[in-house]
Amino acid sequence: GGEELAQLIDSMLRDVPDFPLPGVLFKDIAPLLADAAAFNACIDAFADLPAAFEADLIAGVEARGFVVAAAVARAVDAGVVPVRKAGKLPPPTVSARYELEYGSAEIEVPVGLLEGKRVYLVDDVLATGGTLAATIELLTRAGATITGVGVLVELSFLNGRQRLEGQDLTSLLVL
Ligand code: PRP
Repeated sequence: GGEELAQLIDSMLRDVPDFPLPGVLFKDIAPLLADAAAFNACIDAFADLPAAFEADLIAGVEARGFVVAAAVARAVDAGVVPVRKAGKLPPPTVSARYELEYGSAEIEVPVGLLEGKRVYLVDDVLATGGTLAATIELLTRAGATITGVGVLVELSFLNGRQRLEGQDLTSLLVL
């Protein structure tokens, strides 16, 4: 069940203090991705959601979101769309600047692939929600309909969920 999966994920996160900046407690998901059973269980949990299996495309946010997006896409027989850091994609793109827990960033999505598509959006961690809120705005501007949003881990004390109001958000582990 969901509680068991949450415990499994929790047991496979590595807490790294003061990374990438002093005062930030980084949640390293590498041990989770490296464990076949745990990784599969996470992907299966997303793939069981109607919002995911009804989607045409799975969007993942660079870089760790790509890993989740590709695996979910295979599981639900959807395509993948990359949400990239600015400057990586060839034109035409749409872009948005947003604030991170540490610093600011700019992301881009390709236009042309997204018009009229149903898109399920995934990432590894929901922190302040800045990244996913900006991504939703971008995907919407590019003509997509967001069917839902899935993350492996939600850091609830950063209130990111508030910035995703109105979205069908699934967090496999809430901390
Ligand atoms: C991390 C994480 C999310 C985002 C969450 O990515 O993978 O995309 O931050 O933060 P937010 O909810 O406060 O916006 P990061 O920018 O560190 O990129 P990476 O995956 O390339 O390491």
